[in-house]
Amino acid sequence: MANVIVIGAQWGDEGKGKITDLLSRSADVVVRSQGGVNAGHTVVVQGQTFKLHLIPSGILYPNTDCIIGSGTVIDPQVLLQEIEQLKALGVSVDKLFISQTAHVTMPYHRMIDRAAEERRGEYKIGTTGRGIGPTYADKSERTGIRVLDLMDVEHLRKQLEWTINYKNVILEKIYNLPSLDPNTVITEYLEYAEQLRPFVIDSALKIYEAVRERKNILFEGAQGTLLDLDHGTYPYVTSSNPIAGGACVGAGVGPTMIDRVIGVAKAYTTRVGEGPFPTESTGEVGKLLCDRGAEFGTTTGRRRRCGWFDAVIGRYAVRINGIDCLAITKLDVLDELEEIKVCVAYQIDGQIRHHFPTNASHFAHCEPMYKTLPGWQQSISHCRSLEDLPKQALDYLKFLAELMEVPIAIVSVGPSRDQTIIVEDPIHGPKRALLDADGTPVTIT
Ligand code: IMP
Repeated sequence: MANVIVIGAQWGDEGKGKITDLLSRSADVVVRSQGGVNAGHTVVVQGQTFKLHLIPSGILYPNTDCIIGSGTVIDPQVLLQEIEQLKALGVSVDKLFISQTAHVTMPYHRMIDRAAEERRGEYKIGTTGRGIGPTYADKSERTGIRVLDLMDVEHLRKQLEWTINYKNVILEKIYNLPSLDPNTVITEYLEYAEQLRPFVIDSALKIYEAVRERKNILFEGAQGTLLDLDHGTYPYVTSSNPIAGGACVGAGVGPTMIDRVIGVAKAYTTRVGEGPFPTESTGEVGKLLCDRGAEFGTTTGRRRRCGWFDAVIGRYAVRINGIDCLAITKLDVLDELEEIKVCVAYQIDGQIRHHFPTNASHFAHCEPMYKTLPGWQQSISHCRSLEDLPKQALDYLKFLAELMEVPIAIVSVGPSRDQTIIVEDPIHGPKRALLDADGTPVTIT
């Protein structure tokens, strides 16, 4: 039995979908614990591409329970579409469960998200426009609608009437937008409620029962460490906690029940939306990475900003999440490069910094310091073990592992399930090597 958290170690889009899909093979339960339909996971199975936004990747395994946890925000319209699409592709949703305490994204959330972005002008965040921030804001303000509210028809009518009238004032007076008709919204959401009802459960209880039955639970992260509301590049972040600690809060499990944290990082870096990105390449390299890596958002179709691997961020992710081992994805995207750079430190106001600066203005003007490694300039998509890799690719991986002080357990060399190198068992391998005060690695087993 092992309960594992998989998190993104960069700004999201690290290829977590493929890794969680791989790990789901040995999971009995897969849980999404934060975020909403801002996420987009692409999984390729036998040449068929599945694009998932809210439903955990484990859904592709017929015997795996898939739980959309309490800390998520649910847009019923999108979720129901996703359910229909999966069914049309022959995927069963019989083992899908939705937390009754997750919050619901309403039409006014989407409207406010987009209108607020426009108002921000040059300070815009570059959100996905899916209403994520406003849904979480209502949750904190305690005016949110939860899944269990949807299930209670009379209560919902009253609650929505009040809430929509309140939101209409904001829509009209602040954003100059048309108001919403409460009856239309109520009718629409009551219909969604009926369709979602069979899936709704007390998710924290179901997860606890799975823990007691010694089942394998996989907590599937959405977004990435640098998009974390508390520990990311605020204000250019999402409104939930994609870090490992967030999985406990969002799923409703105690930290003592977690056995392992696996970090997923691309072999280079990407970012969607606004905000500083020290290793960004706006030139030829960025274009090559974007083209070869097909770096377009699953959710919004936006072109992702691309650049070199940033080990300062990598080390930060290891620290903030307590990562035990890493999965490095999309190594094959670097195949054609003659030279590959890795950011090993930042220069800030003339000083060399090896740690991620939490001061946003320092981060915004830091200068990356690079080490240049030779590229391998050959295709590695067929490699299935470390021995198959060219020496330069192996050296690159070793260098990343040394910089981040954690082992690399998985290397992905292509989008398909089989284009994967398993270096060591990511779930049962040795736990993270910590460094002693004198710099000696300590292995906790
Ligand atoms: P929001 O989550 O829609 O509010 O967007 C806030 C920021 O997070 C924006 O920069 C988005 O591009 C980014 N973001 C949200 N979800 C994802 C994701 O799944 N992958 C990558 N970036 C994301």
